[in-house]
Amino acid sequence: MSGVLLIRNAGQLLTLRGSPAPRRGDALGDLGLIRNGAILIRGDAIVAAGRADEVERLASEERDTDEIDARGRVVMPGFVDSHTHLVHGPARLLDYEMRLRGADYHQISEAGGGILASVKAVRAAAPEVLETQARQAAGNFVRHGTTTLEAKSGYGLDETAELKTLVVVAAIDGQPADVVPTYLGAHLVPAEYKNDPDAYIARMCEETMPRIRRQRLATFADVYCDRGAFTVDQAQRYLACARDLEFELKVHAEQFEHTGAARLACELGAASADHLEQADAEDAVALGCSSTIATLLPGSVFHLGLDRYAPARMLIENGAAVALATDFNPGTSPTCSMPLVLSLACVQMRMSPAEAISAATINGAHAVRRAESIGSLEPGKQADVIVLNAQDYREIPYFFGVNLVDMTIKRGVMVYRQGEVVETTAREKAADAR
Ligand code: NIG
Ligand code: FE
Repeated sequence: MSGVLLIRNAGQLLTLRGSPAPRRGDALGDLGLIRNGAILIRGDAIVAAGRADEVERLASEERDTDEIDARGRVVMPGFVDSHTHLVHGPARLLDYEMRLRGADYHQISEAGGGILASVKAVRAAAPEVLETQARQAAGNFVRHGTTTLEAKSGYGLDETAELKTLVVVAAIDGQPADVVPTYLGAHLVPAEYKNDPDAYIARMCEETMPRIRRQRLATFADVYCDRGAFTVDQAQRYLACARDLEFELKVHAEQFEHTGAARLACELGAASADHLEQADAEDAVALGCSSTIATLLPGSVFHLGLDRYAPARMLIENGAAVALATDFNPGTSPTCSMPLVLSLACVQMRMSPAEAISAATINGAHAVRRAESIGSLEPGKQADVIVLNAQDYREIPYFFGVNLVDMTIKRGVMVYRQGEVVETTAREKAADAR
C-alpha cells in the first residue's frame, strides 16, 4: 500500500467527531454520521474524514493514491476495547461445566478453579507459550474490529510471573493491534500471602510497582475490589501508591457485591471504574460528576449466567461517561467480540445502537487515556478504521453473534480482510481439479 489511501463510497461514515471530552447524556448517541462519506489517509494518520465530494477533491491533489471502495457500507473507527485480561493461559472449561451444573463464581474458586487456577497455569507456562496464545487472541480481536485493546496482568501475582506477563503484552503491542498495558497485581491475594494480605500490598507498593514503572511495562494499575479479593481500604492504599508512582488508575468495582469502590475510583480520579453491576443511584451521581469512565462489561454477566446487568440507563441519565468492553478472560468472559458486547448492551442494558457504538469507540479511548489519537475519525488521528458488511450501523448489534467486520485497517494498513465462503460449485471444481 502506498503512502496515501482513499476509502471512498462509505454509505454511512461514523466519524464520532466532536468534543475532546468523553460523550455523556444525549451526546452519547451522537455518531457524527455522514451519509456518502470518505476518508483520506496519509501514512498512518487521517488527513480528512467527511463528505465524499470534499474528501475526494483533496484526494485528487495527491499523486499516488490507493483506493478502497466501501461499496455503500458502514465505515467507522476501530473498536477500543478498554478492559481485557489478554494473557491468561488455558481456557477454564472445568469452571464452565461446574457453573452450568449450578455452582457460583465463589464456589468454583473454593473448589480449586477460578482466578487461582489461571495463576497456577500462568506461573508454570513458558513465555513463548503465553505469547502464542495471546497473539492468537489478538488476531481474534482484530477480526472482530478491535484496533486497540487494554491488557491486564493479574494471573501471575508474584513478581516473576507478573513481569513475564507484561513482557508478553509488550511483545504483542502493535502487532497488529495496539495494546495498552495494565498492572493488576491486586487481582487476588496469592496463596503465599493468604494470612497477610497487607504484606502483599506492601510488597506490591514497595517493590513490584516501582520495578514495573522503571521498566515502563505498564501505564495503568488496577485492583479487583470485591468479596474474596480486596477491601476498599486495601484498594485505596494500593491505588494511592500507584498514583504516587504516576500510574493511571483503574478499578474493578461493584461486580458481585456493592463495596463503595466506584466512589473510591471517582475520588482518586481513576481513568475508569469497571463492571458496576451492583452500582446504585449514589454511584451513578458520583460517576456523573467525575471524569472517571463507567466501563460496562455485559459479556461477563452473560457468561456467568447472571441476570443483573449494570444499570446503564441510570448511569447515562446521571451523566456518567459510559464505555463498553469485552473483559476478555477465561473465568467470566471468554470473548474477543466487541460486536457481541454491543448486542448485549442493547438488549440487556437498553442502550441504543448509537450509544453502544460511542461507548465502544471514543469513550473506550478515553478509558485508556488515548482519546487524543484514537476512537474517532478526525484529521491528525491514527487511521484505525473498520469497514463492515452492513448498510446501517444498527445492524452491528442487531445481528448478534455475527461478525460483520469485512476489513480492519490499523494505522493506515489493512491488517484483516474477511475471507470468502467457498460456494458448493467452487468446492466441487476444486475437488475435480485434484
Ligand atoms: O473482570 N472479577 C475479576 N476479574 C475478572 C475475572 C477473572 C477470572 O475469573 O479469571 C473479571 O471478571
Ligand atoms: Fe476484568
